[in-house]
Amino acid sequence: MADFVGAVDQGTTSTRFMIFDHGGNEVARHQLEHEQILPQAGWVEHNPIEIWDRTVTVVRTAMQKAGLSASDLAAVGITNQRETTVVWDRNTGRPYYNAIVWQDTRTDRIASALDRDGRGDVIRRKAGLPPATYFSGGKIQWILENVDGVREAAERGDAIFGNTDSWLLWNITGNHVTDVTNASRTMLMNLETLDWDDELLSFFGIPRRMLPEIRPSSDPTGFGVARVPGPLGGEVPITGDLGDQQAATVGQVCFSPGEAKNTYGTGNFMLLNTGTNLVRSENGLLTTVCYKFGDAAPVYALEGSIAVTGSAVQWLRDQLHIINSAAESESLAARVQDNGGVYFVPAFSGLFAPYWRSDARGAIVGLSRFNTDAHIARATLEAICYQTRDVVDAMAQDSGVTLDVLKVDGGITVNNLCMQIQADVLGVPVSRPVVAETTALGAAYAAGLAVGFWKNTDELRENWNESQRWQPQWSPEQRDQGFGRWKKAVQRTLDWVD
Ligand code: G3P
Repeated sequence: MADFVGAVDQGTTSTRFMIFDHGGNEVARHQLEHEQILPQAGWVEHNPIEIWDRTVTVVRTAMQKAGLSASDLAAVGITNQRETTVVWDRNTGRPYYNAIVWQDTRTDRIASALDRDGRGDVIRRKAGLPPATYFSGGKIQWILENVDGVREAAERGDAIFGNTDSWLLWNITGNHVTDVTNASRTMLMNLETLDWDDELLSFFGIPRRMLPEIRPSSDPTGFGVARVPGPLGGEVPITGDLGDQQAATVGQVCFSPGEAKNTYGTGNFMLLNTGTNLVRSENGLLTTVCYKFGDAAPVYALEGSIAVTGSAVQWLRDQLHIINSAAESESLAARVQDNGGVYFVPAFSGLFAPYWRSDARGAIVGLSRFNTDAHIARATLEAICYQTRDVVDAMAQDSGVTLDVLKVDGGITVNNLCMQIQADVLGVPVSRPVVAETTALGAAYAAGLAVGFWKNTDELRENWNESQRWQPQWSPEQRDQGFGRWKKAVQRTLDWVD
C-alpha cells in the first residue's frame, strides 16, 4: 500500500496541501494566500477560480517538494472554511458570483427576518443553529435574489451550490457532493435525518436540486476519484471531507464525549464532542455534526464560534500599523506587565457565540493618557482569551463538563504570551500538540480511515503527543476581576447600536 495520505486545507485566508505519513508526521506542505475582496463595509468575498488555481499549485508543489507521485498517496482528504458559499454553472464550471465568505454580514436583514415570524425557532430545532448571517442559507438566498439569471438557472438545475469543499471536489472528481459536517452549517440540513430539509429550504426559497449530495465525512467511494489530468497527476481516491473545525477536532483526536479543542485562526472555534447525543444549547452555542465515519452513527458537537481573534491581530498590523507582523504582537504586548486598564472587544462582524448579536460593533475601553500601543496589543491578545472564556463558560453550563485541560491548535498558538494569558484567564492548563496543523491532519485521518491506511481511532490516538503546556499563574481574584471588566466592555459593544 502507498505510504502517505494527503490533505487539502482550503481556509479563509489561504489554501494548503499537506502530506502525512502513518505516524501523522508532516512530510511536506505548500501554502498560498488568496485575495480578500472587500467591496463595501461588512462584505467579504473570495474569487472561487483563484481558490481553485491556488489549490492546483499547492498540491503540485507539495508533491514535488516531497518527491512523490499519485501512486504514493493512499487517499486524499479535503477540509475547508465552512459556510462560505459558491454558486456555479454545472455545464461550464463558471461561478455566477464571487464566494460569499462566512464573515460577510450582507444578509443581516434576511437573518433578522427569520426571528420575527417563528422560522428562527424551527431552524434552531432542526438545524441546531441560531439564524445568523454566518451560515450559508441566507447567502444562497442573497445570490438567488441579487445575481441576474441565477434564480432561473437554479430552477432549471444548472446553478448549483457548494461550500468550498464541494467546489473543490467538483473540480477534482466531477461529483457534486459534500459531507455531513459542512451541510450542518447551512441552516438547511436536519441534524437528525442528516438530509436536506424541505421546510428549511422553503424558508430561503432554495430549490433542492441546487444542493450537493450529503456523504459521511469518511467515505471510501462517495466523493469519487481524482480525475486525470488534475492536480494530483493520477487517480487518487478522495475519501475524506470535513469542515475545518470538525477536521481539527479529529486531528486533535477528540473522539470521546467530553473532549474538546480550541482552534485559533481568523476566528476561534471551540468544539466539544458530545458523542451520539444531540445536545441543544441553552447558552448561545451551536449544535453541529462533529464527524461521521462511514456507516457508524454520527458524532455531534457543541461549538462556540468566535468571529474575530487572529483577524484582530491582522487589524493591528494592517489598519493601525502598530506591528509589522503577527508575531510582533507578542513582543509589543510583552513590553507591559498588564493591560493598563484597557479592554478591546473586536466585534467587527458583530459578536458570535455566545451573544449572537450581528449589530454589535467593536470598542476599546478604559483608555487613559498613560496607555501605549503595547497596552492595545496586550488587550488584543487578552480579547482572544476572554472570548474563549465566554465560550468555555457556556459549554460548562450546557454540558456540565468542566475542562481539566484545553487542547489548542492554529496560528496564534505559537504566541507564548497569548497562550499563557489563555491559561491565566481560564484557570486551566493549555496544551498544544507536536503537530499543530490539526486541521489538515484531521482531513487526512478521515481519508485514511476510509481506505484502511489507519485501522481505527485508537491508532490515531497513539499519534497525538504534547509539545507544550502552559499553567495558570493568575490568582483567582485577578482572574475574576479581569473577567468582570471584560464583561462590562462587552456590554458597551452591545449597547452601542440604537
Ligand atoms: O466557520 C468558519 C471557519 O470554518 C473558518 O475557519 O480557519 O478558515 O478561519 P478558518
